[in-house]
Formats: sequence, C-alpha cells, structure tokens
Amino acid sequence: MLASALDGIRLSIHVLAAAIWVGGQFTLAGLVPTLRGAGNGVANLAAKAFARMSWPAYAVLVLTGFWNVATIQTAQTSTAWKVVLGVKLAVVALSGLSAWLHTRAKTPAQNAVWGAISGTSAAAAMILGVFLAG
Ligand code: HEM
Repeated sequence: MLASALDGIRLSIHVLAAAIWVGGQFTLAGLVPTLRGAGNGVANLAAKAFARMSWPAYAVLVLTGFWNVATIQTAQTSTAWKVVLGVKLAVVALSGLSAWLHTRAKTPAQNAVWGAISGTSAAAAMILGVFLAG
C-alpha cells in the first residue's frame, strides 16, 4: 500500500535523522584514524563539528518518534509490537546517554567503552525501528 503524503514526510524525516545519528557515528569512527594522522586536535574538531549535526538529529528522532507513535492505532498493535517499542525507548535513552558520556570521557578507556555502547545502541534503535515499521 502506498503511504499518504503526510506519512511519507513523517517517516522520511525520522529515517533521515536516523541516518545522521547512526550512520554519522559509524562514519566518524571510521575516519578517526585518518583524522588523528592529519594532526593534533583534528579528530576532536571533527567530533565537535559532528556533534552540531548529531544532537539536532537526535532531537528530531525523538520528536518524530512520538509523532510515529501518535499516528499508529496502538490499540490495534500486538503485545509484541508494544514490547519492541518499550525496548526501543530504553535503547534510544541509552544511545543518547552513552553518546553524551562519550563526549565527556576523561580517559581513552572511557572513550572506547562509551563510544562502543553509543554506536551499538544507536544501531539497535535503528534495527528495532525497522521491525516496528513492519
Ligand atoms: C536513536 C533514535 C532512533 C532511531 C535511530 C530510530 C530509527 C528508526 C527507523 C530506521 C525506523 C524504520 C523506518 C522504516 O523502516 O520505514 C523507525 C521507525 C519507527 N520509530 Fe524510530 N528511531 C529512533 C527513535 C524513536 C523514538 C524515540 C520513538 C518513539 C517515541 C520511535 C518510534 C518509532 C516508530 C513507532 C516507528 C514505526 C513507524 C511507522 O511504522 O510508521 N523511534 N525508527
């Protein structure tokens, strides 16, 4: 079935923001070795530039996420769908918290741990979203 114009806009904004939040983290992680080789502080500058895009994208994900839920007839969704939504909300919160802790890491070990949790939970939120969309 073809989506209505408004549904198409809503889901396209959600997916574009997911591409920036999730894909951006993986892309930046892949670029870090090259950026470190380009000079002291270059990787940090790139991370700060990415943060100026990624946090607005995260906010858009949360806003359009609630818009998604508001348009779905939740009374007609299965228990499994509701459980997946609940797990997704927890994973989205973990994704935001770990990304924030990653930016405030004081040691390389903290940086690695919060970076890994941030990337993994962001990918998990994306995958759960695909299941919710059916
Ligand atoms: C890190 C944050 C998030 C990511 C990466 C993410 C990613 C995605 C993706 C990739 C889809 C699938 C779209 C498709 O296959 O067409 C989706 C769908 C969905 N997301 Fe999210 N999402 C996030 C946050 C949220 C939040 C906070 C909520 C709820 C408050 C939410 C609720 C939904 C719902 C209900 C759908 C299904 C929409 C539909 O079928 O019309 N998402 N999400």
